[in-house]
Amino acid sequence: MAFEASLTWLLQLSFGFFFFTFTALFFILSILGFFLKLKPCCSCEICQSFLTSSWTLEYNNLCDWYSHLLSKSPTGTIHVHVLGNVITANPENVEHMLKTRFDNYPKGKPFSAILGDLLGRGIFNADGDLWRFQRKMASLELGSVSVRSYAFNIVTTEIESRLIPLLSSVADKCNNDSSGSLDLQDILRRFSFDSICRFSFGLDPGCLRLSLPISEFAAAFDLASKLSAERAITTSPMIWKLKRFFNLGSEKQLKQAIKSVHELAEEVIRHKRNNARPRSSHDDLLSHFICTTDDDIFLRDIVVSFLLAGRDTVASALTSFFWILSKNTHVVEKIREESNRVMGQETEKMVEFAQLREMHYLQAAVHESMRLFPPVQFDSKFCEEDDVLADGTFVTRGTRVTYHPYAMGRMERIWGPDCLEFKPDRWLRGGVFKQADPFKYPVFQAGRRVCLGKEMAIVEMKTVALSLIRRFDIQVAMARAPTFMPGLTATLRGGLPIVVRERKH
Ligand code: HEM
Repeated sequence: MAFEASLTWLLQLSFGFFFFTFTALFFILSILGFFLKLKPCCSCEICQSFLTSSWTLEYNNLCDWYSHLLSKSPTGTIHVHVLGNVITANPENVEHMLKTRFDNYPKGKPFSAILGDLLGRGIFNADGDLWRFQRKMASLELGSVSVRSYAFNIVTTEIESRLIPLLSSVADKCNNDSSGSLDLQDILRRFSFDSICRFSFGLDPGCLRLSLPISEFAAAFDLASKLSAERAITTSPMIWKLKRFFNLGSEKQLKQAIKSVHELAEEVIRHKRNNARPRSSHDDLLSHFICTTDDDIFLRDIVVSFLLAGRDTVASALTSFFWILSKNTHVVEKIREESNRVMGQETEKMVEFAQLREMHYLQAAVHESMRLFPPVQFDSKFCEEDDVLADGTFVTRGTRVTYHPYAMGRMERIWGPDCLEFKPDRWLRGGVFKQADPFKYPVFQAGRRVCLGKEMAIVEMKTVALSLIRRFDIQVAMARAPTFMPGLTATLRGGLPIVVRERKH
């Protein structure tokens, strides 16, 4: 007995010793790795300004500072040495990384590690064959007319049954005592979450019901994407990896949030498998994908990727659109005139899919807004082998290379001297909308990995914008220029407070 007790004690002691040594070693190596990676001694002006945060004296947003630096750079490219990050606003470089040498610029391990726990093997987080398989399958589905009209029906139903009644009820308050204001950013996030959930896996979280309920699923998804994105802004990946290892703080919360998201998605998948019925054109994406694989975890990852890709992006694009329209009321009038011409004067009628195509000015206004306020402000890849970019910049393997749609939208050399002005007409030739070169306007990325939901997103934006503009007068109650919170998509700090009134005829 005594021998067994001492053996257990000895085993516990040695386990404790190994655990302690391992942890200490891990910690020391992380700190070493962090300092080696940071090269904190770089004395160049950009790195010093970054390290001391002196850029914040002149700029509210990091993106604005980068835009300034990129516009001053003769090549349109800068190198933030302390971050090991080459940033470019040069369309030729963007084409080089997203098309010409696509295989040399994958998302890479650092990115997939950040989102890996939430997205698993989903398309948004995959490279190589895993990505190719999903891309092929998803582009077939998203390109089909039936899936697009299914998406359009979801959006129009959500507008008619929830968005308009909600805004009307707030407008009533505004008309009575002008006390009814609301945060349009929050409303649009709820709207796009309901829509993308119904589209991706046929589930209605009901976030936009009149009582604005707190959906457990939406809250878990929000928290999971927010905390995953915050991993990217820790000074070294070792910090969040250590916290994850010990299940501490934000990593503990993240683990719980991801568990809730995954459990719900898995439950929907189980339910669909058990209630299999013949495929129809009115099916959600999950029902289309379910027969392509027996692997339910893979299926879950595919669907969660779509939620992430299609949710905040659309809400962000619409939020900025309403902000910029509030500063350019003549554009609102022109959108109303155009829609009256195409749809008639009756403001309560929903737009038809075919009518949207005829509204070139609206299409131009939406694109112009995303030029200045792209939902994905910058996007990074990791250079696999040493390379030289189109402008002659040498890039060593392992370097993070970022293309910067936000800065590119503000480049005089791309858009001319009026680049900072909101002018939808720059997209029109003889009244007809003309696409820009995607490498000059990589708002939806470009090349082989271009956004799969681009057409759908633009239809959704135009339908929402039109429905609100024709029916309501929306006044933004925020004087200052937008400031953004750090995250995967551009989100306005403090939301977008508005006062809304029903239009009189
Ligand atoms: C205004 C709205 C949108 C914008 C600005 C946008 C932008 C982007 C960007 C920049 C990427 C590249 C991200 C990266 O590789 O790191 C992307 C990828 C993607 N987007 Fe969108 N997106 C929008 C809406 C949507 C919607 C509504 C859906 C789904 C229905 C969607 C589905 C996807 C998918 C699946 C990918 C991954 C494509 C791939 O890796 O091959 N997006 N999007």
